[in-house]
Amino acid sequence: MHPSKLEINFLPCILLVLQCWSLPHVTIIATGGTIAGVASSTATTNYKDSTLAVDALIEAVPQVKDLAQIQGIQFSNIGSENMNTSLLLPLSKLVTTLVSNGSSDGVVITHGTDTLEESAFFLDITYDLPAPVAMVAAMRPSTALSADGPFNIYEAVALASSETAANRGVMMTLNDRIGSAVYTTKTNTRALDTFKAVEQGYLGVFNDKTPIFYYQPARAWKKPFFDISGVESLPKVDILYGHIDSDVSLLNFSISNGARGVVVACTGDGSLPTTWKETAKYWSESGVPVIRSSRTGSSYVAPGYDNLTAGEYTYLNSGNYNPQKARILLQLVLNEYGGGNQSLVQGFFDPY
Ligand SMILES: *[C@@H]1O[C@H](CO)[C@@H](O)[C@H](O)[C@H]1NC(C)=O
Ligand SMILES: *[C@@H]1O[C@H](CO)[C@@H](O)[C@H](O)[C@H]1NC(C)=O
Ligand SMILES: *[C@@H]1O[C@H](CO)[C@@H](O)[C@H](O)[C@H]1NC(C)=O
Ligand SMILES: *[C@@H]1O[C@H](CO)[C@@H](O)[C@H](O)[C@H]1NC(C)=O
Ligand SMILES: *[C@@H]1O[C@H](CO)[C@@H](O)[C@H](O)[C@H]1NC(C)=O
Repeated sequence: MHPSKLEINFLPCILLVLQCWSLPHVTIIATGGTIAGVASSTATTNYKDSTLAVDALIEAVPQVKDLAQIQGIQFSNIGSENMNTSLLLPLSKLVTTLVSNGSSDGVVITHGTDTLEESAFFLDITYDLPAPVAMVAAMRPSTALSADGPFNIYEAVALASSETAANRGVMMTLNDRIGSAVYTTKTNTRALDTFKAVEQGYLGVFNDKTPIFYYQPARAWKKPFFDISGVESLPKVDILYGHIDSDVSLLNFSISNGARGVVVACTGDGSLPTTWKETAKYWSESGVPVIRSSRTGSSYVAPGYDNLTAGEYTYLNSGNYNPQKARILLQLVLNEYGGGNQSLVQGFFDPY
């Protein structure tokens, strides 16, 4: 064979190998959820979630191998309604290890949609490295006509391998949108565009595989960081719901049952019924913070005063955090500082 012909045949191979070497390393951590769910092609409810293993998820989207050198880790295989603190702590430690030991330039986590925003927020305030972490989920099981999982995974890998995604903490991506872990919430039980941050908006959108960000890398206002490297468990914090006829004895029950803090998903702007006020104040002053959040689904919950002129707030408020994110933040604050100092606790929720 003529030498030049040999060269020509090998050149594409060499280029392919070189291209592959230069691709970033992305680890896909699978935790379960609808994205790994199986049903008949026309069923999008009552399917069996958390069935496919991480290798099957990756094989369904071989195109991700053009974006990054992929490694898969099966962390759990559960519906996200079953996610809990004893899984989130090691999950966060795993993400930090994968990035800090140099084995991952970015991390993708597949998860159920139900508590996606809670896990994302937990990871975001316990992770402080520049490498992007993309949480991804699906509303339709993998077997459905127009399953959304495969393209969502493709975009999540694109996000985790993108240099423009660095220094943005943990993000959530579904349905071509990129959302902040701090503000994005699930707003609809079935629509594909269920994840929204109604007040704060999206961070960006995808143009095919390219994330188009609207802003420079930014940190949510006063977003804290908690080092959980030595933490094995977190204090119990419950959420109670505000409504007509709400029963304040549930607050006492929660606390006698072990809660060291309580978030109330209050009506409106964090309104506590008169029947709740004394008890809420009593517990907050006794070192068991009772934080007023809102069941409305968006925007800021204002400080609550008995005497506005005196300027001393009487009822703690969740600021910009919805009840489920306020609960996670309170767990981490209580673990590190306890609940004895009300202004210290409040300082984590006040955006100013
Ligand atoms: C958390 O979830 C895992 C997986 O379902 C389970 O094995 C574990 O017992 C749960 N932990 C607690 C404290 O409920
Ligand atoms: C990095 O950490 C991961 C997760 O613990 C481990 O599987 C991997 O072997 C580590 N890599 C290096 C280079 O230490
Ligand atoms: C809740 O507990 C506090 C403190 O023990 C008590 O003062 C209050 O009466 C209790 N409220 C109800 C509704 O049981
Ligand atoms: C409210 O606080 C102001 C300033 O400390 C005080 O002058 C006023 O008497 C208080 N009002 C009530 C009803 O306690
Ligand atoms: C409570 O926390 C605030 C804010 O961090 C701090 O200024 C104050 O000194 C603390 N109070 C006590 C008694 O430790």
